[in-house]
Amino acid sequence: MANINFTKRDSFGSKFGIIAATAGSAVGLGNIWRFPYVAGENGGGAFVLIYLGFVFMIGVPVMLSEFTIGRRAKQNAFGSFKTLAPGKPWYLVGLMGIVAAFLILAFYSTIAGWTLEYILQSLTNSFSGKNSAELKQSFETFQSGTFRPILWQIIFMGLTGWIVFSGIKNGIEKYTKILMPLLFALIVVMCIRAVTLPGAMKGLEFLFKPDFSKITWGVVLEALGQAAFSLSIGMGTLITYGSYFNKNTNLATTAVQVSMADTFIAILAGVMIFPAVFAFNLKPDEGFGLVFIVLPNIFEQMAGGYIFSIIFFILLAVAALTSTISVLEVVVAYFVEELKISRKKATVIGSVAISALGILCTLSFGNLGDLKIFNRTIFGVFNDLTANIFLPVGAFLIVIFLGWFLGKKIITDELSNEGTLRIKLLGVFLFIIKFIAPIAIALVFLNSVGIVNFS
Ligand code: PHE
Repeated sequence: MANINFTKRDSFGSKFGIIAATAGSAVGLGNIWRFPYVAGENGGGAFVLIYLGFVFMIGVPVMLSEFTIGRRAKQNAFGSFKTLAPGKPWYLVGLMGIVAAFLILAFYSTIAGWTLEYILQSLTNSFSGKNSAELKQSFETFQSGTFRPILWQIIFMGLTGWIVFSGIKNGIEKYTKILMPLLFALIVVMCIRAVTLPGAMKGLEFLFKPDFSKITWGVVLEALGQAAFSLSIGMGTLITYGSYFNKNTNLATTAVQVSMADTFIAILAGVMIFPAVFAFNLKPDEGFGLVFIVLPNIFEQMAGGYIFSIIFFILLAVAALTSTISVLEVVVAYFVEELKISRKKATVIGSVAISALGILCTLSFGNLGDLKIFNRTIFGVFNDLTANIFLPVGAFLIVIFLGWFLGKKIITDELSNEGTLRIKLLGVFLFIIKFIAPIAIALVFLNSVGIVNFS
């Protein structure tokens, strides 16, 4: 059944708005927290090189596929598949994306809430005078609490809901156009501070000097997984945003620009974090604690640490916010268009339902810590289920849909804006979405669920 809707759909108003919103979705905790940590654990430079290869070989084509589906159908992720493949079960891919959005936002908002607590701690100068054991202790006490982390999570979801509620042009676009340049400015300031620390070279060497002896199949697949998560591909976020692009948007250049921006910010995050880690003789593979334990430790010791800690945690919160709105929009667009409820109602129901799920994730660091499913906490299950299963399977099915089902005519129409643009590299794109991307993604998926383990 075609989903024809005669009421005017909201859309982005400008080219810069499209880039800001889409790059805002991609750039998030995945870049500033996860990228440096995963790179840190997988040998630094060589991992970064392989990651770059995957972003452009696989990430850009999958992103372009999502834009194509979304702008063609002009519907939410579920409705897009229903419109383009009437009577076929492809809408299940969209549905899987909606479910993934619920689960991702539930655990993402836990960490996003922590960034607000850390802004407050920075403002009140609470890292001052504490050694690393005390900083670790204070993080763990906060994290395992009940009232505070839940309150921050709800505040964060409230902010997210408020922006989404205001719509595409007057909400998402308006705020990301301010927040993204701010994010960029803050990260540049932080990078300048980091590279001017004594001993910074060691950190930069770690990040940029490839040591290929560290590369195993496991590392290669880890790089592909990081690329997918960081680019927001595989769950319909970019189908949904693509559906708000206008008919003159050049999909291919947008995909390249957004991927470049995302990658650039991830590299800058590395440049900001590793010199500081090495300058203060800390470990680059601290993982989750890197941001909430190691960085306060660094700020405590460095000149100007008070100001830089405030800047850093605001940066982290802003990056998270421009990502959480894109995930909530997937759910809200679905509610509005498929369940025919008002945007206001959809936003309230979506935010409240996700917050309720999110509270379980937050409590799994404290009161619900003993509740284990598949040997993981609730947070761990949501995290692993989405990153390791939903996103790879979603990305795989999306390229299969485009490469083997949608047909060359629709793809060519979309990529050329109905013949007004000259398309370059069409053959390469088709070859990648038909063969290279599905095979590579299948390898990541099989590895991450442990069916095959190459490492
Ligand atoms: N790309 C975001 C980040 O790096 C996370 C995200 C994943 C957002 C999937 C939307 C969809 O933090």
